[in-house]
Amino acid sequence: MRNPAWTIDFARTATPVPTAVPEAPEAPAAHGEFRRDLRRALAQWPRSMPPKYFYDARGSALFDRICELPEYYPTRAELAILRERAAEIAAQIGPHAEIVEFGAGSLTKVRLLLDALVAPRRYLPIDISGEHLGAAAHRLREDYPQLAVEPVVADYTRQFVLPPPEANGRRVGFFPGSTIGNFDPDEALRFLEHAAQLLRGGGLLLGADLVKNPATLHAAYNDAEGVTAAFNLNLLRRANAELDCDFDLDGFSHCAFYNAPLRRIEMHLVSRRAQRVRLDGECFSFDEGDTLHTEISHKFTVEGLRGLAARAGFRPAAVWTDDARRFSVHWLEAPT
Ligand code: AVJ
Repeated sequence: MRNPAWTIDFARTATPVPTAVPEAPEAPAAHGEFRRDLRRALAQWPRSMPPKYFYDARGSALFDRICELPEYYPTRAELAILRERAAEIAAQIGPHAEIVEFGAGSLTKVRLLLDALVAPRRYLPIDISGEHLGAAAHRLREDYPQLAVEPVVADYTRQFVLPPPEANGRRVGFFPGSTIGNFDPDEALRFLEHAAQLLRGGGLLLGADLVKNPATLHAAYNDAEGVTAAFNLNLLRRANAELDCDFDLDGFSHCAFYNAPLRRIEMHLVSRRAQRVRLDGECFSFDEGDTLHTEISHKFTVEGLRGLAARAGFRPAAVWTDDARRFSVHWLEAPT
């Protein structure tokens, strides 16, 4: 099932990205894009939104809470791999790395890498949430005074520009958290193709969640405390706050399930009754049970991920998993 709203539009003009943003502002024109994408989502059938709109300041904070939940194993499993295999990973990456992190969030995982790497040069965290990124970059600079931390407020699902690498710098991508799973397979391939070009001569350290028992997957997206539900519903709250919509937050419920044939978690907001929602004077109606699809989260096999990376031009090298084989971290060498 191909979803037009989630297509990575590389043809669209890239927003020029400043080489260094000390106190990172919000991504330019974010509201206009949110408005356009929400309008498109509400007008199409089935309705779906790109998941990147979850991450306003509140959504980013809710996501950080998700990572602490007992049911949400991916963050802990990945952190365990990064912690236990840090020396091996650092040996693969080599010295003088310039780390480019896609969707950097709170910048906690990269600390494990930075502690293990030999003389890392520069760190370019890319994130769509400027407020969150600016604060996290500030804390990182305090702890790593030798490192050039240059946040880039950008949407990495679009084409974007990076400052040129320094002489002898080895450009290394870092894409943890299985965020690659938010793309459908075509989009994942296109993202990896783009990354292979950006990272020429270096490589990509990629975290990917693995296919497993559906009950474990289901629980990870249906936590008992309801934090994932709040994260999902935050999209509507954000639309009300930023776009002056009138979503009734009690009129929608969180629904997440594992679609086994497609190997993905699907997250939806389900209308609890017949209702209407306004956006810019336009009216959109929901019947009881109608859904707005808000996220896909693909699960991978180790071989499947390596095959995808190879099709994008990488040479799949080392791969690490945790003891329970819940999560995988891949070192993918970029073309020269
Ligand atoms: C950060 C996109 C990888 O898909 O597991 C967590 C986001 N959504 N709970 C994921 C998320 C619901 C997460 N990613």
